[in-house]
Amino acid sequence: MARILITSALPYINGIKHLGNLVGSQLPSDAYARYMRLRGHEVMYICATDEHGTPAELAAAKADKPVDEFCKDMWQVQKDIADGFRLSFDYFGRSSSQRNRDLTQHLATKLGEAGLIEEVSEKQIYSITDGRYLPDRYIEGTCPNCGDDKARGDQCENCTKQLDPTDLINPRSAISGSTDLEVRETKHLYLRQSVMREKLDKWIDSQVGWPILTTSIAKKWLHDGDGLRDRGITRDLDWGVPVQYEGAPWSGMDGKVFYVWFDAPIEYIAATAEWADANGLDDSAWESWWRTDKGADDVHYVQFMGKDNVPFHTLGFPATLMGSGEPWKLVDFIKSYNWLTYEGGKFSTSQGRGIFMNQALEIMPSDYWRWWLLSNAPESSDSDFTWESFQAGVNKDLADVLGNFVSRVTKFCRGKFGEAVPEGGTYGEAEATVTSEIAKRLAAYQSHMESIELRKATADLRAIWVAGNEYLQAAAPWTVYKQDPAAAAATVRFALNLIRLYGVLSAPFIPDAAAKILDAMGASDAAWPDDLDAALSAMPIGQAFTVPEVLFAKISDDTRVELEERFAGAS
Ligand code: MF3
Ligand code: ZN
Repeated sequence: MARILITSALPYINGIKHLGNLVGSQLPSDAYARYMRLRGHEVMYICATDEHGTPAELAAAKADKPVDEFCKDMWQVQKDIADGFRLSFDYFGRSSSQRNRDLTQHLATKLGEAGLIEEVSEKQIYSITDGRYLPDRYIEGTCPNCGDDKARGDQCENCTKQLDPTDLINPRSAISGSTDLEVRETKHLYLRQSVMREKLDKWIDSQVGWPILTTSIAKKWLHDGDGLRDRGITRDLDWGVPVQYEGAPWSGMDGKVFYVWFDAPIEYIAATAEWADANGLDDSAWESWWRTDKGADDVHYVQFMGKDNVPFHTLGFPATLMGSGEPWKLVDFIKSYNWLTYEGGKFSTSQGRGIFMNQALEIMPSDYWRWWLLSNAPESSDSDFTWESFQAGVNKDLADVLGNFVSRVTKFCRGKFGEAVPEGGTYGEAEATVTSEIAKRLAAYQSHMESIELRKATADLRAIWVAGNEYLQAAAPWTVYKQDPAAAAATVRFALNLIRLYGVLSAPFIPDAAAKILDAMGASDAAWPDDLDAALSAMPIGQAFTVPEVLFAKISDDTRVELEERFAGAS
C-alpha cells in the first residue's frame, strides 16, 4: 500500500467554471483518486477555492456583496457543484482560511530569512480613468514574445510566457479600456527565483517520466530569453494575506497583500491542515503528508492542472518550498492538460458560449459528462466538445454497450430463471476466451491508470464492456435456452458476474452507474479484481440480484439539436 497525495488546481472563486476547467484538473484527478483508493492505497485528495486577487474583488463588487461574504457564498456554490459531479475530495478548502494565512506568512518569513526576498521599489501602473492601481491581470496589451494583442499583465495565454505589466506593448486598462495610464513608484517584495534557477533546473532534470507538456513548459521558462526572473509577490489590494504581520522581516508594507499566485498553491498544504482540523486531528495528521521529516518521505505526490498553470507549479511553488529551507514535500508528478474547445471555438464566459458546470448538471446526469469528458480528455492535444460527439459517446458507449448488456442479462435471467444467479451447465471455451481477453484489457487499463493516461484507460474499459457484449452475442442464451436451458443458465451466470465486475471497474469514471450496478448485483464487497477468475465467480449460484432501473437514457436527435442551439452563445 502506497500513500498518494493528489491535488487538483484550485478553481478561482469568481465564477462558475465551464467544462474545459473541469476536464483540466478536477475530473481527471477524481478518477485517479478513486482508482487509487480502489487499489487499496491511502489517498489524500485535496482541492479548494482560490479566493484572493482582483477577480474576486471585482466579482464581489458586481454581485454587490462584501468580498468575504461573496467568497463564502461562492465556495458553497462550487462545493455543491463539485458534489454534483461526484468529486471525491477528502477536503475542499478555501485559500482565505486562517490556516493558509498563517502558512503563507510563515513561508514568507522563512524565505526572507534565507535572503530570498528582496524589497524592490517597483514601477506600477496607475489608471487615471479608473482611479486605482491596476493589478497585472487588469492590464492588457500586446505580448512582447509572440505579438498576441490580448496578453495580460501577468501572462500571455497564447504563448504562456509569464510577464510583468510593464513588458506589455500598448498597455490598456482591462476594466475601462483606458490608455490613460501612469507609472507610479511603490515598494514591493520580490521572490528571488533567479538565485534558485540551478536548483530548480536540477530538480526538474531529476524527474523521470514527466509528461512532455509539463517539462517543456518548465524548461522554456528556465532557459528562454533572460531565464527565470525574480517575481513580485505582493500587490496593492485589500483582499488577501496581509504582508505586514507580526514578526514580518520587513516594514512599511501596510495595505499590501501577497500576490494570489503566491498564496494559492500554499493552500494545497493549508487545506490538508484544514482537513485535519475539521476531523479533530492534530498537526501530525497533515504533516505526515507534507513534511518529509514527519512521514511524508514515502508519499507520492501528484498534481493535476491545465497547461497555463504549469509555470507556477514547476517553478514558483517549488521555489517557495525549497527556498524556505524546510523539509516540505515536493511534487513527484505533474499531470497537465491541453484545452477543451467548444464546437470548434473557445468557451466564452462573456458570450455565454459553451457549457458551465451548473448547467451541465441540470441537463444530464454527471456520469454522462464524466464519461464523455474523460474519454475525450485533452491529454495529448486539444480536444473539441461537440454535441454530436457527446450524443454518440453517451448513446454508443454507455447506453448501447454497457447499459444494454446489464439490462439484457438481468431481464432475461429474471424472465427465465428468476432474480437469483441460476444453477446448471458448466463454463467452457467461450468463458475462458472472454476471460483472457478481459485479463489483457484489464492489464492495459491498470497500466494506463498508473501512468495517468485516462483517455487510453477509458478505451480499455470500453473494450472490457465490449468483450462481454460479444461473448453474450455469440453465446445467445435466448436461443440456446429453447434446447438447452442449463447451458443458457451457465451463460447468464457468467454474464451476471461480468456485470458485477463492470460495476467495480467502472467506478473511477462513472461512479453513480457503478454504484447502481453493484447494488443491483447485491455486491457487498467491491474489491478490485486482483484475481480475475475469483472476481468472475464472486456471485455464487443462488445470490439474489435485481434488475436495475435504466442506467443510461439515450439522447435523441431532437434533444441534441435543441441543446446545440441553446448553448451556441450570443454571437
Ligand atoms: N486558480 C488558478 C486557475 O484557475 C489555479 C490555481 S492553482 C494553485 O488557473 F495551485 F495555485 F492553487
Ligand atoms: Zn505571447
